[in-house]
Amino acid sequence: MNSPVQDLKDYLAAQEKKSLLRFLTCGSVDDGKSTLIGRLLYDTKLLFEDQLSALEKDSKKHGTTGDDIDFALLVDGLEAEREQGITIDVAYRFFATDKRKFIVADTPGHEQYTRNMATGASNSELAVILIDARKGVLTQTRRHAYIASLLGIRHVVLAVNKIDLVDYSQEVFDRIVADFTAFAAQLGFASQVPIPLSARFGDNVIERSANMPWYAGSSLLEHLETVEVEAALAERPFRLPVQWVNRPNLDFRGFSGTVTSGRIRPQDPVVVAGSGRTSRIARIVTMDGDLDEAVAGQAVTLTLADEIDVSRGDILAPAAQRPEVSDQFSAHLLWMAEDEMLPGRQYLLKIGTRTLPATVTELKHKIDVNTLDHSAAKTLALNEVGYGNLSLAQPIAFDPYVENRDTGGFILIDRFNNNTVGAGMIDFGLRRATNVHWQALDVNKTVRAEAKSQKPVVLWFTGLSGSGKSTIANLVERQLVAQGQHTYLLDGDNVRHGLNRDLGFTDADRVENIRRVAEVSKLFVDSGLIVLVSFISPFRSERRMARELLQPGEFVEVFVDTPIEVCMQRDPKGLYEKAKAGQIKNFTGIDSPYERPEVPEITLATTQFEVNALAGQVMDYLRQMAVIR
Ligand code: ADX
Repeated sequence: MNSPVQDLKDYLAAQEKKSLLRFLTCGSVDDGKSTLIGRLLYDTKLLFEDQLSALEKDSKKHGTTGDDIDFALLVDGLEAEREQGITIDVAYRFFATDKRKFIVADTPGHEQYTRNMATGASNSELAVILIDARKGVLTQTRRHAYIASLLGIRHVVLAVNKIDLVDYSQEVFDRIVADFTAFAAQLGFASQVPIPLSARFGDNVIERSANMPWYAGSSLLEHLETVEVEAALAERPFRLPVQWVNRPNLDFRGFSGTVTSGRIRPQDPVVVAGSGRTSRIARIVTMDGDLDEAVAGQAVTLTLADEIDVSRGDILAPAAQRPEVSDQFSAHLLWMAEDEMLPGRQYLLKIGTRTLPATVTELKHKIDVNTLDHSAAKTLALNEVGYGNLSLAQPIAFDPYVENRDTGGFILIDRFNNNTVGAGMIDFGLRRATNVHWQALDVNKTVRAEAKSQKPVVLWFTGLSGSGKSTIANLVERQLVAQGQHTYLLDGDNVRHGLNRDLGFTDADRVENIRRVAEVSKLFVDSGLIVLVSFISPFRSERRMARELLQPGEFVEVFVDTPIEVCMQRDPKGLYEKAKAGQIKNFTGIDSPYERPEVPEITLATTQFEVNALAGQVMDYLRQMAVIR
């Protein structure tokens, strides 16, 4: 007997030549989703023997269907999930018939699994949306249809399941179809095919059922075998996101990556999307020799006729069908993290082979995934969908997501824990900033600093309210000015009376508060000043953003380390008292977090030294670093 791995390899080799349909099933266990997938797998007779015998054993253990095989067990995955009767992750299954091969993404249906569903949808071409015939179109049906359309699925099957439980009634079926059609009109699916079926008994799953003479359409499998999905990727404009520059020696320079769409031949003219430089394809190199043509899905190395600059993350494209290039665009965002999305916070954006810093500059609205209603929003929580603008550290090449999922879809990554926190679908590029260029000025930072005989820096005081930031910053500034230095002090309470008077104390507002003051301190450094910033600045992420706006050495993080008990005892403004009494919400240290600096340049232990000594510590540091004499 062959090993299972060898079996699988032989099997896959035999399937090589058939077309592939990737589809997603949406619905919950109650709708019979797992039973339906199980039946597709079982009845297409492509289960491996050992999987089957395991299934029979399991049915006896957990089954809810008497002596019948419980098909749901086939796809429900992990033991723990079986016991709870729910499916949690995205499970991918492979099966095939004589006509086609299939990859089915099985995702759970509840709203808290929206991100799982989106993951499964992002590489599917069709969605099978399950409805329980007894219940009709539910909120979750609408959600599934919306997420499918948002993630670029153009074809849906409305699988009206458990039709046996409504006596195979045409009337019930017609009513459900009418309901769904009315809702789905706004989602713009290219095809939308309703099928009445019973997953449990197999009606209209593989074979057409004799129980519904009124239904003249295809069975589910027949439809899946024949449905025409998008013009194949190969027929779209050519795109090759460069994965790496292959330069084994001075005589060879190739650009390696996977053709995500279209086709390319030697001699074809191409453009490097970002720079706009053009050339022609010289060779298409692979491990098995040069090719006359490469099409979507193939991994190749391209060489060009001319020596032009191409680097990792660039996109090669036809000169006549270029991607857009911009450092700002608007997009739909699906939030996937427990921590809410905060406009103004820096995330890493990964699109194709490129990863770069990005921020959501403006959230225009969020979209209720159940009703499609829009509402104003400042942040996005787990599983919420919003629409807004993003700004990147550099321009990138991209396509609108509706035109190309590979070059128009991105993920956002948390910079501290490297988790994927969001998925985005680009709508269009924003051109408003592209005609704003840096103005070269004769008097620059160096000249301004020299005129003041000093090195400009930011002393960034961070710490709890009442920790002593402002008191110490004030003392340091007095000493600097007494020495003839040029300074400015930005204090949280004061700046909040002017520039930031529109901001409160939610996480989102604090992020914006710090973003603005970081930009202002950068301008003051550019003017040659020694800037003292005294803001609680409770989040590591934004302190790091402020640091990265400046040159190395220009940002001096001063942690005013006062334990909260001491701050509460001092309570100079009586605010802790109010916060404890619940009169002030989101108070740092009480019901809003403070993230201690990990490696501040200076830590001031305020419980061990008095303020003059602490100010002296800061002055000493500035002398050591030759900021001042
Ligand atoms: S930050 O968190 O956004 O950096 P910032 O330093 O600007 O805060 O403002 C903090 C000052 O606002 C505190 O010193 C305190 O006087 C006042 N304040 C009012 N409400 C709050 C609150 N909920 N949390 C913290 N500080 C508050």
